[in-house]
Amino acid sequence: MIKITQLRKEFPAKDGVFTALHALDLEVARGEFFVLLGPSGSGKSTLLRCVAGIDIPEGGEMTLDDRLIFSSAKNVLVRPEDRGLGMVFQSYAVWPHMTVYQNVALPLTHGTRRIATGKVRDRVMHALSLVQMETYADRPVPYLSGGQQQRVALARALAVEPVVLLMDEPLSNLDARLREEVRHQILSVTKRVGVTVLYVTHDQTEALALGDRVAVMHQGRIMQIAPPNDLFNRPANATVAEFLGKVNWLDGSIAASGEINTSIGRIRAETAGLQGKVRVGIRPSSLQVSETSTGEANEFGATVGAEAFLGEQIELLLKLPGNTELELHAPRRARVRWLDKVVYCRVDASEVLVYQE
Ligand SMILES: Nc1ncnc2c1ncn2[C@@H]1O[C@H](COP(=O)(O)OP(=O)(O)OP(=O)(O)O)[C@@H](O)[C@H]1O
Ligand SMILES: [Mg+2]
Repeated sequence: MIKITQLRKEFPAKDGVFTALHALDLEVARGEFFVLLGPSGSGKSTLLRCVAGIDIPEGGEMTLDDRLIFSSAKNVLVRPEDRGLGMVFQSYAVWPHMTVYQNVALPLTHGTRRIATGKVRDRVMHALSLVQMETYADRPVPYLSGGQQQRVALARALAVEPVVLLMDEPLSNLDARLREEVRHQILSVTKRVGVTVLYVTHDQTEALALGDRVAVMHQGRIMQIAPPNDLFNRPANATVAEFLGKVNWLDGSIAASGEINTSIGRIRAETAGLQGKVRVGIRPSSLQVSETSTGEANEFGATVGAEAFLGEQIELLLKLPGNTELELHAPRRARVRWLDKVVYCRVDASEVLVYQE
């Protein structure tokens, strides 16, 4: 559906050129919800803007639905309005002097994607019903909440029946509760319509919750493309692992047995193909805590240096030998005071992340 090959985007910089996208390759399947995740400045919006035709790349090729929309070699550049896209951005970009209905109808009555006048009303009302806003059709847009305005923007993008829906941080202006609500709605509506989605966010929770697949971007490159579960459990490298959430890092070296020697002791993990110095990563949620030893592998004695009660979970800061500190997140059970206690922490070998140094 979306095929991007060797895409290169440069911007002028004071010391020459800055390469925002380095020969980037990407394929998104029909009907797929594809998320671009990465820190600020990693090139997510630039990539989206290239697909939209707002930014013009310096090199590479892009096809949408088997139609060539950009090629530097073949000198092809399809205008943004002729690419068949729907777009939703962070700012709702709805017209304040118009009603909900008028906003959604606008692209259907003006410009290159006009449809027959007699069909506009049905199309608008259908789009509004998809986002459950049909009862608000006559309301002026300023009298809507942020979440409702963003749903209008989504309805407007869907009303043109785009081949691809592009979204750039559409939830970031909403508060936490609304963000979750609109997030659910985006997922259910896009799946119901079957539209292919390219969605940009810097929020890993959002990416994992929404994406059929997620691409992690870093400095204008894609570091890994995987379904959310694989991405979280098997990050390709330490940068990706870190970007998906807090990781406790330890220096290690592979012993003859295949186990890893670290400052807290020997750790069992999957180390096939690794040798010498490695970086060992343990997520706070992969650590289990108990007051007595279970005698199993990968168990280490520790003292609780700090304790934070966060409602659904507790966070402990564990002090281990070698001046090592590990953060641990445990589900809240019967309230036990952990502070200053001597405890045991344990991690499953399958949950230890190991990267060659
Ligand atoms: N018009 C421009 N001129 C010069 N540099 C630009 C331009 N647009 C983007 N950049 C640079 O390209 C890089 C990527 O920017 P981009 O907006 O794609 O990042 P992003 O991943 O969307 O970040 P954010 O999460 O902050 O939105 C940044 O270093 C940015 O400064
Ligand atoms: Mg951006």
